[in-house]
Amino acid sequence: MCCVPGMKRIHTAADLRAALAGACDTAFVPTMGNLHAGHVSLVTSAKRIGQPVVASIFVNPLQFGAGEDFARYPRTLDADCDKLAAAGCDFVFAPTVAEMYPHPQTFMVRVPESIAGDLCGAFRPGHFDGVATVVLKLFNLVRPRTALFGKKDLQQLHVIRGLVRQFNLPVEIVAGDTLREPDGLAMSSRNAYLSPSERRQAPQLHHELATLAAAARAGDGDFESLVATARRRLSMAGWRVEYIAVRDAATLAAPAAGTTECVVLGAAWLGRTRLIDNLNFTLGDPG
Ligand code: PAJ
Repeated sequence: MCCVPGMKRIHTAADLRAALAGACDTAFVPTMGNLHAGHVSLVTSAKRIGQPVVASIFVNPLQFGAGEDFARYPRTLDADCDKLAAAGCDFVFAPTVAEMYPHPQTFMVRVPESIAGDLCGAFRPGHFDGVATVVLKLFNLVRPRTALFGKKDLQQLHVIRGLVRQFNLPVEIVAGDTLREPDGLAMSSRNAYLSPSERRQAPQLHHELATLAAAARAGDGDFESLVATARRRLSMAGWRVEYIAVRDAATLAAPAAGTTECVVLGAAWLGRTRLIDNLNFTLGDPG
């Protein structure tokens, strides 16, 4: 294992290449910054692998649609670097948009419609193409042995696993569990957008998913009506629901007869803030 004293902050591809020259296998945590304990848990897991840890901080314009929150996405590089250093990160790569995209990015990864037109993809056209494209670029710049992604963004994790498999990328993908606030709200950089009253209401998304999962575990197999109930409760409380869906946890396809490992996923707006969450459950396991 390489030993690197202190954390190096790097802003260009050339400096990254120089810093990692001769470095042995690395573990990589890509982020968009404004780091919270969920991001830090990925760095901690990366550290445990025993490889030098590289984190990236880059708010990727390619994955934001017109009218989305690219411009107001919180940018907190100094505080992020303090958190990364405290977690034992060895290198942080924080490029500018011009550094990542010196030329207009006309070559793109095209995520298949079966994913890009489903769940979050159906509401964010082009989003997963933008994610897959930047992650491919970051993998080529960092050349990690291992890369860590959170289950909080479950569909993104599926996109990355597909990208690695179908392009034969020599990277092992490790998934990290979702970290939550004490009231159940999944940690997210976007929680910073919530007003105090929205923040008090925000755990309801997790609560409705958990209620649905508990009913399904207890034997209620009528997913359509469980989903309708969750949607109705959220709408009545003022949320604008994009989707609530029960899927096969391994494939994210609709659960087939005999599927036992399921996941319920949801996306909904509270005011100007879009929140997503998901929860795994096993059918026939009242837990
Ligand atoms: P970002 O939203 O910053 O998330 C970076 C990583 O942290 C992702 O793998 C995400 O799933 C994980 N994460 C977010 N919230 C989490 C939580 N509460 N618990 C555990 N892990 C959590 O996802 C992105 O950035 C971007 O799309 C990126 C992959 C960096 C490409 O631009």
